[in-house]
Amino acid sequence: MTQESVELPTPDDAMAFGRALGKVLRAGDLVLLAGPLGAGKTTMTRGIADGMGVEGRVSSPTFVLARVHPAGESGVPLVHVDAYRLGGDLAQLDDLDLDTELERAAVVVEWGEGMAERLVDDDYLVVRLDRRADDVRVVRLEPHGEWRARVAAASFAG
Ligand SMILES: Nc1ncnc2c1ncn2[C@@H]1O[C@H](COP(=O)(O)OP(=O)(O)O)[C@@H](O)[C@H]1O
Ligand SMILES: [Mg+2]
Repeated sequence: MTQESVELPTPDDAMAFGRALGKVLRAGDLVLLAGPLGAGKTTMTRGIADGMGVEGRVSSPTFVLARVHPAGESGVPLVHVDAYRLGGDLAQLDDLDLDTELERAAVVVEWGEGMAERLVDDDYLVVRLDRRADDVRVVRLEPHGEWRARVAAASFAG
């Protein structure tokens, strides 16, 4: 099932979309942010972190592969992974022990599509971002497993 695409004209729109998604995330959730460089994956992660109420500033982790944002009031930490430099190296991904993290945290992975799905059985959400020729970003949700029902019931789906 693929959702309708939603336009995100400004970075604030990407943040707001992420914020709504962040509000429904719980421990064990895996979200894969897909799309080219500059599409808005890190910007949306900022919104997700804000919606979850976690601590720490979300950055584009050039030197860090994964950053743990401790839980705020919601009690769910966020693990933000940028798998860009892994270049598909599954051993390096395994070294991050994300399967253990998923027991207590929500995990958001930039550039994880094609690698990170194996961390969960069937339940994960792909958030596909694209940058149109007019520079407007568009987002499309590709829910898998239980995420189909969650997206259908959610207001963040646009
Ligand atoms: N509608 C938009 N949504 C998200 N980012 C946007 C948008 N318009 C412009 N931008 C800018 O594009 C850049 C996106 O960067 P980033 O979020 O780091 O992308 P990615 O992580 O996908 O490489 C930021 O500088 C952001 O301010
Ligand atoms: Mg990024």
